[in-house]
Amino acid sequence: MKRIAVLTSGGDSPGMNAAIRAVVRCGIDEGLEVYGVERGYEGLIEGDIRPMTRRDVGDILQRGGTVLKTARCPEFKTARGMEKAMSKIMAFEIEGLVCIGGDGTFRGALELSKRGIKIMALPGTIDNDLGYTDFTIGFDTAVTTVLEAIGKIRDTSSSHERTTVIEVMGRECGDIALYAGLSGGAETVLLPEKDYDINELCKKILMSVNSGKLHSIIIKSEGSRMDSGTLVSEIQRITGRETKLVVLSYLQRGGTPTMRDRLLATSCASKAVSLLSCDSESKAIGSLNGEIMAFDLEEAVKVQRNFNQEMFDLIEVLSK
Ligand code: ADP
Ligand code: F6P
Repeated sequence: MKRIAVLTSGGDSPGMNAAIRAVVRCGIDEGLEVYGVERGYEGLIEGDIRPMTRRDVGDILQRGGTVLKTARCPEFKTARGMEKAMSKIMAFEIEGLVCIGGDGTFRGALELSKRGIKIMALPGTIDNDLGYTDFTIGFDTAVTTVLEAIGKIRDTSSSHERTTVIEVMGRECGDIALYAGLSGGAETVLLPEKDYDINELCKKILMSVNSGKLHSIIIKSEGSRMDSGTLVSEIQRITGRETKLVVLSYLQRGGTPTMRDRLLATSCASKAVSLLSCDSESKAIGSLNGEIMAFDLEEAVKVQRNFNQEMFDLIEVLSK
């Protein structure tokens, strides 16, 4: 293999830059030419592809976002879009491609790999919804951001003796809410994986008030049942206590990556490059019980994240 390329696709996540940096520098170290594709699959279709040097990736390790930029590209899901992308791959004589993104990016990568290009897929998403890996790149930073927010909201929430619902991201995966809820001392977490009864929730809030708690923090995953605005009005109506909504939204996608995200990104990228340089089959790279491993790409896409019931139960115990 002589030439490889790297792209970031889908929602950005802190640590994507660390992964790009490691792909470029490890690739050059292996004697490969490394190209960067702008705006994910969109740039692949348009041929927005340029050679990258060690210096091009200087000073990006600590930055959130992605210097290659990212996009959601509906055209890539069509046969015509896929053909255009493959013709650019051939024109630029790219033999291996590192795709960094979430499950959509992985599905696109799998389609491309079926057309003959060697792919290494890296799990870059704050959602932690790729079940084949312990964690995805960006998840740790996103949860850390949520924890900082919980700390600040606690201050004002207890002064005013309020209930606060904090909506977090994650699509159909409740892990951001679950991990932030357990490590941030939430009263309750509302997850897509677990249905809940609003009357039981309100009963719990009132019991905690009776036990002397000044305030309640509810972490609601965006994919859980009920729109957040309606939920807040219902809690206020049923409990008779002032209830506020905080939607953390895109705050969770930015910021400097944590040590864990930088390490995961760097180690996955290094593994991807060493596999490409020895002409491996397409793989998904991730960590299993803390060890960086390569998994069959098609199988990896199918693995669902297991819901962690123990963490959920522990939140209930600790918040009594
Ligand atoms: P993420 O990678 O963060 O999950 P998306 O779901 O938006 O984000 O997927 C990123 C991109 O991957 C999409 O914009 C599209 O170009 C491509 N993609 C998603 N699903 C498929 C699919 N089934 N086939 C081909 N490409 C896909
Ligand atoms: O996949 C990452 C994510 O931030 C999800 O948590 C969220 O639902 C979605 O992307 C938001 O997407 P967009 O950036 O297109 O609004």
